[in-house]
Amino acid sequence: MNACITASRLTVRFSGNPVLDHISFEVPEGMIFGLLGPSGAGKTTLIKVLTGQLCQDEGKACLFGKDTRSLTAREHKKIGAMLDNYGLYQRLSVYENLAFYADIYRISRRVIPDILKSIGLYESRKTPVSKLSKGMTSRLSLARALMNNGKLLFLDEPTSGLDPVTTKEIHDVLLAQKRKGTTIFLTTHNMFEAESICDHVILLHRGNIIEQGRPADICGKYDRQNKLRITLTDGTELTLDNNSTSAAAVGEYLEQNRIRAIHSSEPTLETAFIELTGKELE
Ligand SMILES: Nc1ncnc2c1ncn2[C@@H]1O[C@H](COP(=O)(O)OP(=O)(O)O)[C@@H](O)[C@H]1O
Ligand SMILES: [Mg+2]
Repeated sequence: MNACITASRLTVRFSGNPVLDHISFEVPEGMIFGLLGPSGAGKTTLIKVLTGQLCQDEGKACLFGKDTRSLTAREHKKIGAMLDNYGLYQRLSVYENLAFYADIYRISRRVIPDILKSIGLYESRKTPVSKLSKGMTSRLSLARALMNNGKLLFLDEPTSGLDPVTTKEIHDVLLAQKRKGTTIFLTTHNMFEAESICDHVILLHRGNIIEQGRPADICGKYDRQNKLRITLTDGTELTLDNNSTSAAAVGEYLEQNRIRAIHSSEPTLETAFIELTGKELE
């Protein structure tokens, strides 16, 4: 499989402090690749370097084999980006925003209605951006990123602050893009998002990659957190290891009919992150 993005010892410093500290990774074509980390980890900085908006202090990053410091119009045409609702004009309507973008990038305006329908904004095409809800603005921002039908999408916290329904709609659009063969690089501080749609994640903490792999594999590595939580009929809460060492105790409570509820708490990316850093993700 070809690598769509390669980063080698990328380093960015602000006032001498490393915000990205010699990080290296590869993103193969066709996957949803997640960069997971708490606020301030360096996620937006990394997306800015990869999209050629910020120049690193050390190291090298390439998109389609081309150095991100010298991307040409040819590479830009292959990339879509959704960063902080950037590039939306508040006083223009939904349609006018996409038409403006289409003209600049020499894309036919004829693609706009279908894109608006796919993202559920066709009915709102005449509404000025300033009148849209946060969820609709995010969807428009995503529509804009999809317009040039790029092979590589960058999304900076695409569902941050959105309700579960809009989040699900955006996830469905991303999964449909993946089925078309698009490579997606997204950042998130939401471990559920990372676990549910990403094929591969990097855990970023203070500018360093502290873990990476398939979400299920990472969770499996930190299964010491795998516990049974038992509530007894008298209200007592117990936490036991979810393995054979707890069999006798659980058996005894069952025989005595003393169990009101029993839950397992499987390891998550959050528990992996806490184990690695001692801190929570959000
Ligand atoms: N232009 C800048 N000048 C100085 N410091 C910055 C700048 N941009 C980001 N930072 C700092 O770099 C760190 C990482 O920021 P950022 O990449 O935005 O993190 P994230 O997107 O993961 O929340 C933060 O400590 C932030 O304050
Ligand atoms: Mg950010």
